[in-house]
Amino acid sequence: MIIAIDGPAASGKGTIARRLAKHYGFSHLDTGLLYRAVAKAVLDAGDKLDDRARVIEAALAVDPTQFDEAQLKTHAVGEAASIVAAIPDVRAALFNFQQEFAAAERGAVLDGRDIGTVICPHADVKIFVTASPEERARRRTIELRALGQDAREADVLADILRRDERDRSRAVAPLHPAADAHVLDTTKLDIEGAVAAAIAQVERVRTR
Ligand code: CDP
Repeated sequence: MIIAIDGPAASGKGTIARRLAKHYGFSHLDTGLLYRAVAKAVLDAGDKLDDRARVIEAALAVDPTQFDEAQLKTHAVGEAASIVAAIPDVRAALFNFQQEFAAAERGAVLDGRDIGTVICPHADVKIFVTASPEERARRRTIELRALGQDAREADVLADILRRDERDRSRAVAPLHPAADAHVLDTTKLDIEGAVAAAIAQVERVRTR
């Protein structure tokens, strides 16, 4: 079984995906880490994010077995990730790895922006997780502060709105719910409530 979880920044999709994978004993891939790793490699080398050849080279060299999540989960790397993610050849370079991961025999949960639309259009379950920008900014601010990073909620909200716009308006694999996705608005749900709603959706599909 393949479960595709998509949605904008800080909507809760990562937590839901992780918890679904644990619940069903499936493998989990946070595809945002792939784009973050590409961006970080470019920044660490002192290269520019608009140097397309260099960014594509970094995408081809990405090694998901070597990810250091704490270093990839910073605010600056997230912003840079959404810039490199708009380059079609970067997405193409990361495509096979994601599809192969999805084919895992015991089942897979992938979360990102284009899982239900591009990577796994035939996924058994598609959930598009969303929440109001204000609630997402509140959650992301708490997350960043817990990681010891400086964060002002108003700045985080402005960044989230800018990133949403960039992710939704790019020409390749723009962020939008697949036609057959179940939309899960988590604005008024806590983590337990959101996870329970996602499990209920998977169960609806499994017993169909
Ligand atoms: O956790 P958050 O939602 O802030 O970020 P993420 O899921 O790690 O994704 C970072 C950026 O990578 C996003 O803003 C997207 O531009 C890009 N991304 C993408 O284009 N496609 C994916 N499947 C996953 C992430």
